[in-house]
Amino acid sequence: MSVLDGKKVLLGVTAGIAAYKSAMLVRAFIKAGATVQVVMTEKAKEFVTPLTLSTLSRNPVHSSFTIEGDDNATWTNHVELGLWADLMVIAPGTANTLSKMASGTCDNLLLATYLSAKCPVYFAPAMDLDMYKHPSSKNTFDTLTSFGNVMIPATSGELASGLVGQGRMAEPDDIVTFISDHIKGRLPLYGKRVLVTAGPTYEAIDPVRFIGNHSSGKMGCELALCAANLGAQVDLILGPSAIKVVNSSITVHNVTSGEEMYDATHSVYNSVDVAIAAAAVADYKPAQVADEKIKKNDDSLAINLVKTKDILASMGELKKNQFLVGFALETQNEEENALKKLVKKNLDAIVLNSLKDKGAGFKTKTNKITFIEKDGSIHPYDLKTKKEVASDIFDRIIAKIL
Ligand code: CTP
Repeated sequence: MSVLDGKKVLLGVTAGIAAYKSAMLVRAFIKAGATVQVVMTEKAKEFVTPLTLSTLSRNPVHSSFTIEGDDNATWTNHVELGLWADLMVIAPGTANTLSKMASGTCDNLLLATYLSAKCPVYFAPAMDLDMYKHPSSKNTFDTLTSFGNVMIPATSGELASGLVGQGRMAEPDDIVTFISDHIKGRLPLYGKRVLVTAGPTYEAIDPVRFIGNHSSGKMGCELALCAANLGAQVDLILGPSAIKVVNSSITVHNVTSGEEMYDATHSVYNSVDVAIAAAAVADYKPAQVADEKIKKNDDSLAINLVKTKDILASMGELKKNQFLVGFALETQNEEENALKKLVKKNLDAIVLNSLKDKGAGFKTKTNKITFIEKDGSIHPYDLKTKKEVASDIFDRIIAKIL
């Protein structure tokens, strides 16, 4: 999933020959999962038609404050447009429009919208090489950058004039990549690696039976998605679960048994910055797995169980710089027991679920947690969706590691 997924992009198109590429740019944003609205200058319509851009963006194109000749003209609200956007991109940005943006000139809808926008603004200049090099253009770029706007530099190549040099608008796909990378780079977990164990484990009795539990894996999957949205590279070690996690920042390691979960966890644990054990690992497994299906010959059957490896405890033993978080599901003396577990397993924090809380635990969409830290500080939370709980947990982790 792209960081642009679900983002509202306002594309400002100005009157340069590169405006023909704005059609591809709209498509590239849509492909990345964004919603796009286009605002264009009147002159830009000579280079690309509003019909093309409205068809591709699936939204009306805005170019004037009112529609000419329409007696029931409605006012296009530039403030609303500016506030609607999660990000605004001026591409192509002509020397004329960019200098007006820099000086605060406001003689068309695009400029009024730019002045109203509170979101990050990117601009991709497109002009002839000497215009691009002119001190006045350099001044414009510097001024816009000093406003916090982000420049997507023009590339070199053959220009519309036939001359060769810097001034070509960056290619649409490169603009989308530039913006995605820029957004990612500002995320709090950018450059961090996060490991999450999730789901149940199945411990085989024979080829057809196993010992398992009711964990859905939902809490762990929400944690993995949350970490990815915060910019991390994530390894999700997932026991048998119906949930499918598809995200370009998440590597899913599908496992079945506790032993497999242990191996997959330790294959990456050394390189992670944060590890969260949200899995409901079976504490015991059959001492022997029957090669053939066990027949019901006797009135009773005893299965000898042995302890599984405690994955979280092993991570605690090998801990170097990782921030290690465990889960504890308790029924009595909850906080005391959770703190004991934290110390015993050498954790930095533990997420306590009490079975006494309605809506907490397995098979629910909600959870109620208390986040307990190594220093003994205790942070109780209300009943929330597991997605919100994941976000609360990462708020705590980020406050500790950054
Ligand atoms: N855990 C683990 N490997 C195991 C068992 C547990 O990684 N074999 C992790 C869980 O993912 C959870 C934490 O340990 O983060 C707490 O597990 P829990 O079963 O509640 O605690 P135990 O230490 O097993 O103690 P008890 O069952 O006695 O409460």
